[in-house]
Amino acid sequence: MDLKKLKNSAAKEIKAAEDLKSLQELFKKYLGKQGELTQILRSLKDLPKRERIMVGKEANEVKNSLSLEFDEREAELKDREVKAAQEKEWIDVTAPGKKIPTGSLHPLTQARRKAEEIFQSMGFEVAEGPDIETEWYNFDALNIPKDHPARDVWDTFYLKNGFLLRTHTSPVQVRYMEKNNPPLRIIVPGTVYRHEATDPSHEFQLQQIEGLMVDKNISVANLKAIVGEFFKRFFEKDIDFRLRPDFFPFTEPSFDISITCLVCKGKGCPVCKESGWLEVAGAGMVHPNVFKAAGLVPGQWQGWAFGFGLERLVMLKHKINDIRLFRSGDLRFLKQF
Ligand code: PHE
Repeated sequence: MDLKKLKNSAAKEIKAAEDLKSLQELFKKYLGKQGELTQILRSLKDLPKRERIMVGKEANEVKNSLSLEFDEREAELKDREVKAAQEKEWIDVTAPGKKIPTGSLHPLTQARRKAEEIFQSMGFEVAEGPDIETEWYNFDALNIPKDHPARDVWDTFYLKNGFLLRTHTSPVQVRYMEKNNPPLRIIVPGTVYRHEATDPSHEFQLQQIEGLMVDKNISVANLKAIVGEFFKRFFEKDIDFRLRPDFFPFTEPSFDISITCLVCKGKGCPVCKESGWLEVAGAGMVHPNVFKAAGLVPGQWQGWAFGFGLERLVMLKHKINDIRLFRSGDLRFLKQF
């Protein structure tokens, strides 16, 4: 049995072992219970005494030196493993933190705030009223008698006990004038509800901005001046607009307010149905019966009111073609603002 050869090849293999598992295999192969060297040591007893002493001595030396080699290699491999783990789990404590994405205001909120800012700078106060209304404020006080066909214009969500979801912000005109004496200028932003089927230009939940100005000598000219200034600042450019006769029970005379189509600049396109104009608000001079309902003496005061659809304004400003996008919760839409 060539102990030297065994020692050399074992030493080579130990050095070449690339991980702890293969090193263990090698240990088994040479020094395990059935290991090559172990078997040699075990067979010593069959040799004549002189040889037994000589071979025994050499075999023990080989065993000791291989044991050393194993220990050394094991330490090396363990060290390497620790270093690799450290490398992998290393944390750069000086690296800048991950940026948490910040949200942004909903386009309708942005537009509402902008409108509030513009009107406040013109001396208007921001007032609010309840979403759940009574028939009195939503209809009767606004000169819309029971069974009058005009009630059909506002498809109403009725609640129990005579309550309803307000179909417009106009009831706040009366609520405000009951508590505050003219002269007054307010805008009333808020949500309104209409019982109707949805499509690209209809929603059952909308935002309106009501305007009301009451004083001794208020005319349609004041209305035009204020509304024109609002358009200019809201759309950030000069906007052509026009008033046409319309009908609302709570204003006399009544108008619809249209602006030149922002898409075709008045030339005519599918968005404005080839008319060059887009309707954005209803308006008019406050009807005497509305003053009366609010406890004011009609002959003493004059005023105008308007009601803008906020979604409509935002759709025109940003060229949005489907009103349902506003409440879709679609982040791809919202992230653009
Ligand atoms: N309240 C009306 C609507 O919702 C709009 C309007 C407001 C008209 C004020 C005249 C005066 O359609």
